[in-house]
Parts: sequence; structure tokens; C-alpha cells
Amino acid sequence: MEKKVMIAIGSPRKKGNSATLAQQVAAGAMAGGARVETFFLHHMNIKPCTACDACRKKKDVDCIIQDDMQMLYTKLRSADAVVIASPIYWFTVSAQTKLFMDRWYGLGGDNGYALAGKKFGIVLAYADVDPFVSGAVNALRTLQDALRFIEAEIVGMVYGSASKAGEIRHNKALMDEAYNLGRKIASERPA
Ligand SMILES: Cc1cc2nc3c(=O)[nH]c(=O)nc-3n(C[C@H](O)[C@H](O)[C@H](O)COP(=O)(O)O)c2cc1C
Repeated sequence: MEKKVMIAIGSPRKKGNSATLAQQVAAGAMAGGARVETFFLHHMNIKPCTACDACRKKKDVDCIIQDDMQMLYTKLRSADAVVIASPIYWFTVSAQTKLFMDRWYGLGGDNGYALAGKKFGIVLAYADVDPFVSGAVNALRTLQDALRFIEAEIVGMVYGSASKAGEIRHNKALMDEAYNLGRKIASERPA
């Protein structure tokens, strides 16, 4: 059956480096027969979690905040795989990515998280060549911890260095890695 892959990009640059890599993941996934939908978080209305805990009190509600997360919750719930693509801003994921992640809280309840068992791909772009100095390692650790907590599975991580928007496309090895991550996501068996 056709896999559904959701890609969430946390950069304001539509032709930036994380978007360029994410596009490669999408190309690989589509070549593998998956249906891919891409969302640029920066251009969406995503408010911060208010810790009201309505999502815990009302059984049939993900989150009471009426913004674009309502649509994204539907996409997250129906996706077989989710790809998070973020630039590194101040030594971790971008604020756009973090806002989106914080709101996953709304998908939790007595029986765990609605994202449990889903496959995840991680894509990161940063300026400093060293993943430790750039802060990419912090972002990877954050995502690893979050995804372990919600019992999702990381299928692969693609990360590399570039500064100007889109220049990461010159890194052929990384572009191939991103494409192969897409192929892998498309061929994963659902949990
Ligand atoms: C606000 C801001 C903060 C940044 N912080 C870092 C950082 O902490 N470490 C780093 O290596 N690069 C940092 N960068 C550089 C970006 O991560 C880099 O240009 C990346 O390729 C951007 O990805 P994008 O094209 O997908 O937006 C920062 C850039 C901006 C605009």
C-alpha cells in the first residue's frame, strides 16, 4: 500500500539547505512509491503550547488552540513516516521546529502518544563544519530523546554543513544520502 510521508521544514528559507535536503528525501520517497506532503512551518500559524493541559483532560481533543496545528495533527496522525528538516539556530533546532515539536504534547494521553510506532527521518543543516561546534549534536540529541519518549522510530539522519541558501546541493555525497533516506522510508514496513 502507498506510504504517506509528511515532511516538516523548520527554515524560513524555502530554497535553503534543509529544504534542499528535504526535497531529496521527498524525491527518494516518491521514487519508492510513497506519497509525500511538505509543509514549511515558518509560513504557518503555529502558536506555542500554553500548558493548559486541556489535551489531557478532554479525551477527544488533541489541542484546543485553533491554529494550523489542527491540520498538521491530522497529517501527523495519518502519516506512516515524518521527516523533520531543520537548520541549526543557536546550537539546536530552529524555533519554528521547536514550536511544532512542543505541540506534539497535544497528541499524548493515558495510552501514550499518537505518534508511537511511526517512522521518522531527521535532516539538519548548519554553518560550522563540525557537528559538535555547530550545535547539530544538540539537535540530534533533542530529537533522539523526544522520539524515544513518544516511542517513534528513527529511520535515518542526514546532516551537513553549508551557509548560503541551497549551496548544500554541491555536496553530492550528502544529497545522495538524503535521497537514500527517502528510499529507505518508502520501503519501511509499518509498525
Ligand atoms: C539565527 C541564526 C542562527 C544560526 N545559528 C547557527 C548555529 O548555532 N550553528 C551553526 O553552525 N550555524 C548557525 N546558523 C547558520 C545556519 O544553520 C546555516 O546557514 C544553515 O545552512 C541554514 O539552513 P537553511 O538554509 O535550511 O535555513 C545560524 C543561522 C541563523 C540565521
